[in-house]
Amino acid sequence: MSRYAFLVLPSHNRVYADAAPALARAELAVLAAALPDAALDAGSMAEAVIGGVPYVTFEAGELSQRDADLLGNLSALYALFEVSGDLPRPMLRPVPLRRLDRYDDDLLTILKYAGKTNEQFTKLLLNVTLASSANACEVGTRRLTVLDPLCGRGTTLNQALMYGFDAYGADVDARDIEAYAVFIQRWLKDKRLKHQADFAPVRRDRRVVAKRLTAQFAATKDEYKAGDVQRLDVLEADTRRVGEFFRKESVDLVVADLPYGVQHGSHAGTHPGGRAGAGHPGTLTRSPLDLLRTAAPAWAKALRPGGALGISWNTHVARREDAADALTAAGLEVLDAPAYHAFRHRVDQAINRDILIARKPAG
Ligand SMILES: C[S@@+](CC[C@H](N)C(=O)[O-])C[C@H]1O[C@@H](n2cnc3c(N)ncnc32)[C@H](O)[C@@H]1O
Repeated sequence: MSRYAFLVLPSHNRVYADAAPALARAELAVLAAALPDAALDAGSMAEAVIGGVPYVTFEAGELSQRDADLLGNLSALYALFEVSGDLPRPMLRPVPLRRLDRYDDDLLTILKYAGKTNEQFTKLLLNVTLASSANACEVGTRRLTVLDPLCGRGTTLNQALMYGFDAYGADVDARDIEAYAVFIQRWLKDKRLKHQADFAPVRRDRRVVAKRLTAQFAATKDEYKAGDVQRLDVLEADTRRVGEFFRKESVDLVVADLPYGVQHGSHAGTHPGGRAGAGHPGTLTRSPLDLLRTAAPAWAKALRPGGALGISWNTHVARREDAADALTAAGLEVLDAPAYHAFRHRVDQAINRDILIARKPAG
């Protein structure tokens, strides 16, 4: 067994304040379960301050390059070291990492708006969902597909694209989808990435039933020429209708940050579900739990067998047991190992956030 330490991203501490190291440990614990070969000892995980800076330490057998690659994607990880010698002045030997990231990180950071789900938290939720799916081992061998059925202005979609996955989304708020369509088309142009994009109404019987943003692009011209493209497919529509637009069993992961059921600011409008921190009209016409109960069956249908769903929500407006029941009723198996109970954290005085992960039985 060797000892390792990872340096926690400084911004992680800012986002989560006191909860940062605990969340980093929880994410690592879920990933550890997906890394059986590395024999990562979940019980050995600890927080340590080395040279005045917070680290998370753990013990593991020899890390293969694949293990190191997986660890390199941890949302809180800045750098990974193998540790020798003792505290307070151990020796730290850097472990080379190859992150999945394919693009400049401005893909994730340029868009700033009230109601945006924090980028690092989004990455954590995607990572934990991915590690919990039966398809985690297929990363790098085939292109996975992520659906965010409450995608807002695309924080999850962008993280999925960053990882080289295909990204599907839906949101009922026309302003969000418009803003995302403008952003991503601009970004593809600015980065001079070979692409094709379209944002157009979907008509049935001459009636407009939704609006759809589609794009395909690749990181290099050669990939694009070879048809090795990433696809983006985003609907302006009610999330309960995703089954009308996305094929059954066509996505590997569903990742969504539910409306928080609180209103920020003084606006009131007719926005279904409301949203946290919305700087635009937004009122709660339907509780997040009702939304989950009515939408989860369509989300579950879109999942491939073995695929996983990860949601985050505000525990002030819905109990964990009730959210879990909604997922079970949709035919999913809620994952209940201790690590999955360690993600609850405070966002602000109106929001305590938690996550739930569930898997679709493997056929
Ligand atoms: C917490 S926000 C997600 C924000 C998103 N992750 C982002 O960073 O932009 C919840 C989203 O759910 C959407 N929403 C609420 N009810 C909906 C419904 N019935 N169908 C589709 N989207 C809905 C809201 O418009 C809002 O964008």
